[in-house]
Amino acid sequence: MKDMYILGIESSCDETSASIVKNGTEEIATVISSQIDIHKSYGGVVPEIASRQHVKNITIVLEECLTKANMKMEDIDAIAITYGPGLIGSLLIGLEAAKTLAFIYNKPLIPVHHIAGHIYANSLVKDFKFPLLAVVVSGGHTELIEMTDHYRFNKLGGTLDDAIGECYDKVARVIGLEYPGGPKLDKLASLGQKTYKLPVPLKDDSYNFSFSGLKSAVINLAHNEEQRGHHLNSEDLAASFQSVAIEAITSKVKKAIVERNIKYVIVAGGVAANNGLRNAITNLAQELNVELSIPPLKYCTDNATMIAAAGYFAYKDNRRANLNLNSKSQDILI
Ligand code: KG4
Ligand code: ZN
Repeated sequence: MKDMYILGIESSCDETSASIVKNGTEEIATVISSQIDIHKSYGGVVPEIASRQHVKNITIVLEECLTKANMKMEDIDAIAITYGPGLIGSLLIGLEAAKTLAFIYNKPLIPVHHIAGHIYANSLVKDFKFPLLAVVVSGGHTELIEMTDHYRFNKLGGTLDDAIGECYDKVARVIGLEYPGGPKLDKLASLGQKTYKLPVPLKDDSYNFSFSGLKSAVINLAHNEEQRGHHLNSEDLAASFQSVAIEAITSKVKKAIVERNIKYVIVAGGVAANNGLRNAITNLAQELNVELSIPPLKYCTDNATMIAAAGYFAYKDNRRANLNLNSKSQDILI
Protein backbone atom coordinates (compact mmCIF):
# COMPACT_ATOMS: atom_id res chain seq x y z
CA MET A 1 0.00 0.00 0.00
CA LYS A 2 1.14 3.52 -0.78
CA ASP A 3 2.62 5.45 2.15
CA MET A 4 0.35 8.10 3.58
CA TYR A 5 1.67 11.42 4.84
CA ILE A 6 -0.67 13.35 7.10
CA LEU A 7 -0.21 16.95 8.15
CA GLY A 8 -1.58 17.44 11.67
CA ILE A 9 -2.48 20.81 13.15
CA GLU A 10 -3.11 21.45 16.86
CA SER A 11 -4.08 24.75 18.51
CA SER A 12 -6.60 23.78 21.20
CA CYS A 13 -4.91 25.54 24.12
CA ASP A 14 -1.58 27.36 24.33
CA GLU A 15 0.58 25.41 21.88
CA THR A 16 0.56 26.10 18.15
CA SER A 17 1.82 22.97 16.48
CA ALA A 18 2.13 21.32 13.06
CA SER A 19 3.51 17.89 12.29
CA ILE A 20 3.87 15.44 9.43
CA VAL A 21 3.47 11.75 10.27
CA LYS A 22 3.87 8.77 7.92
CA ASN A 23 1.29 5.96 8.15
CA GLY A 24 0.14 7.02 11.63
CA THR A 25 3.29 5.71 13.29
CA GLU A 26 6.39 7.51 12.02
CA GLU A 27 7.12 11.15 12.87
CA ILE A 28 8.69 13.01 9.95
CA ALA A 29 8.80 16.55 11.33
CA THR A 30 7.14 18.50 14.14
CA VAL A 31 7.13 22.14 15.16
CA ILE A 32 5.64 23.34 18.47
CA SER A 33 5.42 26.97 19.46
CA SER A 34 4.60 27.18 23.17
CA GLN A 35 3.04 30.23 24.81
CA ILE A 36 3.90 29.21 28.38
CA ASP A 37 6.20 32.20 28.95
CA ILE A 38 3.43 34.61 27.93
CA HIS A 39 0.71 33.07 30.15
CA LYS A 40 3.02 32.47 33.13
CA SER A 41 2.64 35.99 34.49
CA TYR A 42 -1.17 35.55 34.60
CA GLY A 43 -0.98 32.24 36.50
CA GLY A 44 -2.85 30.38 33.73
CA VAL A 45 -3.85 30.48 30.08
CA VAL A 46 -5.68 33.68 29.07
CA PRO A 47 -7.94 32.56 26.18
CA GLU A 48 -7.98 35.85 24.24
CA ILE A 49 -4.18 36.16 24.40
CA ALA A 50 -3.83 32.52 23.37
CA SER A 51 -5.95 33.00 20.22
CA ARG A 52 -4.00 36.10 19.22
CA GLN A 53 -0.73 34.24 19.62
CA HIS A 54 -2.06 31.37 17.47
CA VAL A 55 -2.88 33.92 14.74
CA LYS A 56 0.69 35.23 14.89
CA ASN A 57 2.26 31.76 14.92
CA ILE A 58 0.21 29.47 12.73
CA THR A 59 1.64 30.22 9.28
CA ILE A 60 5.21 30.34 10.62
CA VAL A 61 4.78 26.98 12.34
CA LEU A 62 3.24 25.40 9.21
CA GLU A 63 6.00 26.71 6.94
CA GLU A 64 8.71 25.61 9.36
CA CYS A 65 7.22 22.13 9.58
CA LEU A 66 7.17 21.65 5.79
CA THR A 67 10.72 22.99 5.53
CA LYS A 68 11.92 20.68 8.30
CA ALA A 69 10.31 17.70 6.53
CA ASN A 70 11.68 18.89 3.17
CA MET A 71 8.18 18.50 1.77
CA LYS A 72 5.63 20.61 -0.09
CA MET A 73 1.86 20.71 0.42
CA GLU A 74 1.57 18.66 -2.79
CA ASP A 75 3.36 15.77 -0.99
CA ILE A 76 0.75 15.70 1.79
CA ASP A 77 -2.11 13.18 1.48
CA ALA A 78 -4.53 14.61 4.05
CA ILE A 79 -4.85 17.23 6.77
CA ALA A 80 -5.82 16.26 10.33
CA ILE A 81 -7.13 18.98 12.59
CA THR A 82 -8.07 19.18 16.28
CA TYR A 83 -11.65 20.47 16.05
CA GLY A 84 -12.22 20.18 19.83
CA PRO A 85 -12.45 20.13 22.76
CA GLY A 86 -10.47 23.14 23.91
CA LEU A 87 -10.54 26.93 23.97
CA ILE A 88 -12.90 27.95 21.21
CA GLY A 89 -10.90 30.96 19.97
CA SER A 90 -7.69 28.93 19.93
CA LEU A 91 -9.29 25.98 18.14
CA LEU A 92 -10.72 28.25 15.45
CA ILE A 93 -7.30 29.48 14.34
CA GLY A 94 -5.95 26.00 13.62
CA LEU A 95 -9.24 24.94 12.10
CA GLU A 96 -9.38 27.87 9.67
CA ALA A 97 -5.77 27.21 8.64
CA ALA A 98 -6.55 23.53 8.06
CA LYS A 99 -9.71 24.28 6.07
CA THR A 100 -7.89 26.86 3.95
CA LEU A 101 -5.08 24.42 3.11
CA ALA A 102 -7.58 21.61 2.42
CA PHE A 103 -9.50 23.90 0.05
CA ILE A 104 -6.50 25.37 -1.79
CA TYR A 105 -4.64 22.07 -2.23
CA ASN A 106 -7.75 19.91 -2.52
CA LYS A 107 -6.80 17.56 0.31
CA PRO A 108 -9.11 15.49 2.52
CA LEU A 109 -9.81 17.09 5.89
CA ILE A 110 -9.89 14.75 8.91
CA PRO A 111 -11.54 15.88 12.15
CA VAL A 112 -9.63 14.71 15.23
CA HIS A 113 -10.88 14.83 18.81
CA HIS A 114 -8.07 16.14 21.05
CA ILE A 115 -8.26 13.11 23.35
CA ALA A 116 -8.06 10.71 20.41
CA GLY A 117 -4.83 12.58 19.65
CA HIS A 118 -3.45 11.99 23.15
CA ILE A 119 -4.38 8.31 22.90
CA TYR A 120 -2.75 7.89 19.47
CA ALA A 121 0.48 9.51 20.71
CA ASN A 122 1.11 5.91 21.76
CA SER A 123 0.89 4.62 18.18
CA LEU A 124 4.12 6.55 17.56
CA VAL A 125 5.75 4.21 20.08
CA LYS A 126 4.13 0.77 19.66
CA ASP A 127 1.33 -0.83 17.64
CA PHE A 128 -1.98 -1.03 19.48
CA LYS A 129 -3.32 -4.38 20.69
CA PHE A 130 -6.99 -4.76 21.53
CA PRO A 131 -8.85 -4.71 23.84
CA LEU A 132 -6.85 -1.91 25.38
CA LEU A 133 -7.40 0.49 28.23
CA ALA A 134 -6.45 4.13 27.68
CA VAL A 135 -5.77 6.04 30.88
CA VAL A 136 -6.35 9.64 29.83
CA VAL A 137 -4.85 12.15 32.27
CA SER A 138 -4.54 15.75 31.12
CA GLY A 139 -5.27 19.33 32.08
CA GLY A 140 -8.86 19.03 30.88
CA HIS A 141 -9.62 15.28 31.09
CA THR A 142 -9.36 12.29 33.39
CA GLU A 143 -10.97 9.29 31.75
CA LEU A 144 -10.71 5.54 31.42
CA ILE A 145 -11.46 4.53 27.84
CA GLU A 146 -11.68 0.98 26.59
CA MET A 147 -10.90 0.35 22.91
CA THR A 148 -11.92 -2.83 21.11
CA ASP A 149 -10.43 -1.72 17.79
CA HIS A 150 -8.93 1.37 16.16
CA TYR A 151 -11.22 4.33 16.67
CA ARG A 152 -13.74 2.39 18.77
CA PHE A 153 -13.94 4.24 22.08
CA ASN A 154 -15.97 3.12 25.07
CA LYS A 155 -15.75 5.48 28.03
CA LEU A 156 -15.81 3.46 31.25
CA GLY A 157 -15.68 6.49 33.52
CA GLY A 158 -14.28 9.94 34.03
CA THR A 159 -13.92 12.80 36.46
CA LEU A 160 -17.09 14.16 38.02
CA ASP A 161 -15.49 17.57 38.56
CA ASP A 162 -11.86 18.75 38.08
CA ALA A 163 -9.37 17.00 35.82
CA ILE A 164 -6.21 15.69 37.44
CA GLY A 165 -3.91 18.17 35.62
CA GLU A 166 -6.16 21.06 36.64
CA CYS A 167 -5.95 19.81 40.24
CA TYR A 168 -2.14 19.61 40.02
CA ASP A 169 -1.97 23.17 38.68
CA LYS A 170 -4.27 24.54 41.40
CA VAL A 171 -2.47 22.75 44.24
CA ALA A 172 0.85 23.95 42.80
CA ARG A 173 -0.47 27.50 42.97
CA VAL A 174 -1.29 27.09 46.67
CA ILE A 175 2.28 25.93 47.24
CA GLY A 176 3.49 29.01 45.35
CA LEU A 177 4.73 27.33 42.15
CA GLU A 178 4.58 29.12 38.81
CA TYR A 179 2.18 28.06 36.00
CA PRO A 180 2.12 25.35 34.75
CA GLY A 181 2.63 23.94 38.22
CA GLY A 182 2.07 20.22 37.46
CA PRO A 183 5.65 19.37 36.42
CA LYS A 184 7.12 21.51 39.23
CA LEU A 185 4.89 19.84 41.83
CA ASP A 186 5.99 16.45 40.48
CA LYS A 187 9.67 17.41 41.03
CA LEU A 188 8.95 18.76 44.51
CA ALA A 189 7.09 15.56 45.45
CA SER A 190 10.19 13.49 44.72
CA LEU A 191 12.02 15.46 47.45
CA GLY A 192 9.41 15.05 50.19
CA GLN A 193 7.76 12.50 52.47
CA LYS A 194 4.06 11.61 52.76
CA THR A 195 3.64 13.27 56.15
CA TYR A 196 0.34 15.11 55.57
CA LYS A 197 -2.88 13.11 55.75
CA LEU A 198 -5.18 13.74 52.78
CA PRO A 199 -8.31 11.83 51.74
CA VAL A 200 -8.17 9.49 48.71
CA PRO A 201 -11.12 10.78 46.68
CA LEU A 202 -14.08 8.70 45.44
CA LYS A 203 -13.21 5.26 46.76
CA ASP A 204 -16.32 3.71 45.24
CA ASP A 205 -17.29 0.94 42.87
CA SER A 206 -17.43 3.10 39.73
CA TYR A 207 -14.74 3.96 37.18
CA ASN A 208 -15.16 7.64 38.00
CA PHE A 209 -12.83 10.14 39.61
CA SER A 210 -13.22 13.31 41.66
CA PHE A 211 -10.44 15.78 42.34
CA SER A 212 -12.11 18.95 43.59
CA GLY A 213 -12.39 17.61 47.17
CA LEU A 214 -8.71 16.76 47.21
CA LYS A 215 -7.85 20.22 45.93
CA SER A 216 -10.01 21.81 48.69
CA ALA A 217 -8.43 19.54 51.31
CA VAL A 218 -4.96 20.80 50.32
CA ILE A 219 -6.10 24.44 50.35
CA ASN A 220 -7.73 24.01 53.80
CA LEU A 221 -4.66 22.24 55.16
CA ALA A 222 -2.37 25.04 53.91
CA HIS A 223 -4.62 27.74 55.44
CA ASN A 224 -4.92 25.91 58.78
CA GLU A 225 -1.17 25.47 59.05
CA GLU A 226 -0.66 29.14 58.21
CA GLN A 227 -3.22 30.27 60.82
CA ARG A 228 -1.56 28.15 63.47
CA GLY A 229 1.75 29.73 62.57
CA HIS A 230 3.16 26.35 61.50
CA HIS A 231 5.75 26.12 58.75
CA LEU A 232 4.26 24.39 55.70
CA ASN A 233 6.73 21.88 54.30
CA SER A 234 5.95 22.20 50.61
CA GLU A 235 8.03 19.15 49.63
CA ASP A 236 6.12 16.96 52.07
CA LEU A 237 2.78 18.46 51.04
CA ALA A 238 3.64 17.82 47.36
CA ALA A 239 4.60 14.20 48.17
CA SER A 240 1.43 13.67 50.23
CA PHE A 241 -0.78 15.15 47.50
CA GLN A 242 0.92 13.23 44.69
CA SER A 243 0.59 9.89 46.48
CA VAL A 244 -3.16 10.37 47.05
CA ALA A 245 -3.82 11.69 43.52
CA ILE A 246 -1.99 8.74 41.99
CA GLU A 247 -3.71 6.25 44.28
CA ALA A 248 -7.06 7.62 43.06
CA ILE A 249 -6.04 6.86 39.45
CA THR A 250 -4.30 3.52 39.91
CA SER A 251 -7.06 1.98 42.06
CA LYS A 252 -9.57 2.53 39.24
CA VAL A 253 -7.09 1.43 36.57
CA LYS A 254 -6.54 -1.81 38.49
CA LYS A 255 -10.29 -2.38 38.76
CA ALA A 256 -10.73 -1.82 35.00
CA ILE A 257 -7.85 -4.15 34.05
CA VAL A 258 -9.27 -6.96 36.18
CA GLU A 259 -12.97 -6.51 35.42
CA ARG A 260 -12.61 -5.83 31.67
CA ASN A 261 -9.92 -8.46 31.12
CA ILE A 262 -7.50 -5.89 29.70
CA LYS A 263 -4.10 -7.05 28.43
CA TYR A 264 -2.74 -3.76 27.08
CA VAL A 265 -2.72 -0.39 28.84
CA ILE A 266 -1.72 2.97 27.42
CA VAL A 267 -1.33 6.25 29.26
CA ALA A 268 -2.23 9.50 27.50
CA GLY A 269 -2.23 13.26 28.15
CA GLY A 270 -0.01 15.83 29.81
CA VAL A 271 -0.06 14.15 33.24
CA ALA A 272 1.39 11.00 31.62
CA ALA A 273 4.65 12.96 32.03
CA ASN A 274 4.29 12.65 35.82
CA ASN A 275 7.09 10.55 37.29
CA GLY A 276 5.05 9.27 40.22
CA LEU A 277 2.24 8.13 37.92
CA ARG A 278 4.64 6.56 35.40
CA ASN A 279 6.25 4.52 38.20
CA ALA A 280 2.95 3.54 39.82
CA ILE A 281 1.38 2.37 36.54
CA THR A 282 4.57 0.54 35.54
CA ASN A 283 4.45 -1.36 38.86
CA LEU A 284 0.75 -2.08 38.46
CA ALA A 285 1.24 -3.41 34.92
CA GLN A 286 3.99 -5.72 36.19
CA GLU A 287 1.84 -6.89 39.10
CA LEU A 288 -1.12 -7.68 36.81
CA ASN A 289 1.03 -8.93 33.94
CA VAL A 290 -0.33 -6.52 31.31
CA GLU A 291 1.60 -4.78 28.54
CA LEU A 292 2.05 -1.03 29.00
CA SER A 293 2.77 1.94 26.76
CA ILE A 294 3.61 5.38 28.13
CA PRO A 295 4.65 7.95 25.51
CA PRO A 296 8.02 9.70 25.76
CA LEU A 297 7.70 13.13 27.38
CA LYS A 298 7.64 15.01 24.05
CA TYR A 299 4.39 13.22 23.08
CA CYS A 300 2.68 13.66 26.47
CA THR A 301 1.81 17.35 26.41
CA ASP A 302 -0.02 18.98 23.49
CA ASN A 303 1.55 18.50 20.07
CA ALA A 304 0.41 18.00 16.48
CA THR A 305 2.33 14.73 16.03
CA MET A 306 -0.37 12.91 17.99
CA ILE A 307 -3.08 14.63 15.91
CA ALA A 308 -1.47 13.52 12.63
CA ALA A 309 -1.09 9.97 14.04
CA ALA A 310 -4.74 9.84 15.14
CA GLY A 311 -5.70 11.38 11.79
CA TYR A 312 -4.30 8.37 9.94
CA PHE A 313 -6.48 5.93 11.89
CA ALA A 314 -9.49 8.26 11.65
CA TYR A 315 -8.97 8.39 7.87
CA LYS A 316 -8.89 4.59 7.72
CA ASP A 317 -12.16 4.64 9.65
CA ASN A 318 -13.56 6.83 6.85
CA ARG A 319 -13.84 9.92 8.99
CA ARG A 320 -13.87 13.05 6.84
CA ALA A 321 -14.98 16.61 7.32
CA ASN A 322 -16.05 19.21 4.80
CA LEU A 323 -15.45 22.93 4.91
CA ASN A 324 -18.45 23.38 7.21
CA LEU A 325 -16.50 21.76 10.07
CA ASN A 326 -16.74 23.91 13.17
CA SER A 327 -14.73 24.01 16.39
CA LYS A 328 -16.32 22.62 19.55
CA SER A 329 -15.20 23.68 23.00
CA GLN A 330 -16.72 20.46 24.38
CA ASP A 331 -17.39 17.19 22.62
CA ILE A 332 -17.67 13.53 23.57
CA LEU A 333 -15.09 11.14 22.11
CA ILE A 334 -16.93 8.68 19.85
O1 KG4 B 1 -2.42 17.29 27.73
P1 KG4 B 1 -2.03 18.64 28.15
O2 KG4 B 1 -0.81 19.26 27.54
O3 KG4 B 1 -3.19 19.65 27.90
C1 KG4 B 1 -4.53 19.29 27.96
O4 KG4 B 1 -5.01 18.67 26.99
O5 KG4 B 1 -5.13 19.57 29.01
O6 KG4 B 1 -1.89 18.60 29.72
C2 KG4 B 1 -1.47 19.70 30.43
C3 KG4 B 1 -1.54 19.36 31.91
C4 KG4 B 1 -1.28 20.54 32.81
O7 KG4 B 1 -2.27 20.56 33.81
C5 KG4 B 1 0.11 20.25 33.39
O8 KG4 B 1 0.32 20.80 34.65
C6 KG4 B 1 0.06 18.73 33.45
O9 KG4 B 1 -0.54 18.36 32.24
N1 KG4 B 1 1.39 18.14 33.58
C7 KG4 B 1 1.79 17.48 34.68
C8 KG4 B 1 3.13 17.09 34.44
N2 KG4 B 1 3.49 17.52 33.19
C9 KG4 B 1 2.40 18.16 32.68
N3 KG4 B 1 1.15 17.20 35.82
C10 KG4 B 1 1.81 16.50 36.76
N4 KG4 B 1 3.11 16.10 36.61
C11 KG4 B 1 3.79 16.37 35.48
N5 KG4 B 1 5.06 15.95 35.34
ZN1 ZN C 1 -4.01 17.95 25.66
